[in-house]
Formats: sequence, structure tokens, C-alpha cells
Amino acid sequence: MSKIYNFFPLSIYRGKLELSANIKKEMIDEIVIMKKTSDKGLKPTQNAWTGDTHGHEYLFQNKKFDFFYKEVEKHIMKYMEHFDLDISKLEFYFQRSWATLSNSKEHISTHNHSQSNLSFAYYLKKKPGDSPLVLIDTSKHNEFIPQLFTSPSVNRSKIFKKRTIMNIPRINIETEEDDIIIFPSKTLHGTEKNINNNERISISADISVLAKESKNLEHLTPPFSEWKKFNNI
Ligand SMILES: [Fe+2]
Repeated sequence: MSKIYNFFPLSIYRGKLELSANIKKEMIDEIVIMKKTSDKGLKPTQNAWTGDTHGHEYLFQNKKFDFFYKEVEKHIMKYMEHFDLDISKLEFYFQRSWATLSNSKEHISTHNHSQSNLSFAYYLKKKPGDSPLVLIDTSKHNEFIPQLFTSPSVNRSKIFKKRTIMNIPRINIETEEDDIIIFPSKTLHGTEKNINNNERISISADISVLAKESKNLEHLTPPFSEWKKFNNI
């Protein structure tokens, strides 16, 4: 008798937002206008339009999205329940939030949000064939030979009989419209390349988690209300 223990998981939350068709239409219309009227930003060809690099990085300041962020907060709290945290000792802030819009074979390159703690992607408009979310494992605890999981030649030579959760360095999440995916911001992620998108629209945000009370506490960021801004620069 033998068994395998899978320790040290990466836990990704998947939930469903219930927004009325009217609210969704209002949000979609607003995002389409943002894209049309935004400056050129940093967008290279083949990259999806992302609001954060086009002057729309505080979407939560737009009243038309109020109900949306209220619902998101509930899902963030549900995600937190899985970590058995005492939520009453923490405070949460949306620090930035933006929409993304992908057409044809545009994609979002692999990245993480290192200035943030929690991030999410909500799929406001997504057809079944549109690009999935890709998550990349940077820890690879099981990779006992360096590059065993990522090597193209290992793949070509069929060294693995099959690829499972035990031996993959990346995973596609086939998200559906209305899904919300929440993950630690340090997780590398992007969208699959060479997939045809039909005005795929998602909304993301970066969330900071701070301590409410800093007394006798290290490692957590102290409450924002106690910070002091430089006065002399
Ligand atoms: Fe992202």
C-alpha cells in the first residue's frame, strides 16, 4: 500500500457573478468607448487592449461599475474563507482595476502583478472559443530534473506517457462568461496565443491586503490610515 501526498498547493478560486443583462450591456458599452477614445498607450500589435496601459486604470471610480465591485468583494471574501484567515483583522483595497478587450488573435503576454497581493479576472463577454486564461507554475516543486516539465525535446520524445497535474508547468483554464477567477497576484498568467477572439472582454483588479491593527505585528503592511506621505518633495 502506498500513497502520494500533494502538499503546498496553488489554490485558484472560480465563481460566477450574477449581473443583469442591462448592467452588463452598460459596462460593455462603457469599455468599448474607453478603447475607442483612449490614447495609443503601450499596446504592441497582437497584444490585447488593456485599460491599465491606456489611461483607464481606476475603473472602480466609474459609477456604472459600482454594483460589479460590490459583488466582487463578496467573492474575494469567499476566497479568503479557504485560507482560514480572521478577516476582521484585515483591510482590503482595490488599488487599480481595468478592462481588457481582445479581438482576432490578440493575446495578453505572460506577466504577474508583483505590486499587489490578490488579483482577479472577470469575464464580462466571452464566447466558448475565445482565449483561455493561462497560469504558469514558477515553483515546480515536482520537477526533480531541471527543465523536465518545460523541455520541448522531452515533449517530442514522449518521455512522459501523459501530462497530468503532476507534471505540467502551465495550465489553461477554460473560463466562461460571468466567471470570476481569483488568484495570488504573484502567479504568472496570460492568455493563450493564436486563438481567435470575438471581442472578448474581461475586467481585472489588483487588491492590497493590510493589517487593521499593526501593534506587535510584523510582515503585514500596516493600515493605510497610519501612513505619512513625504511633505518635502
Ligand atoms: Fe494580469
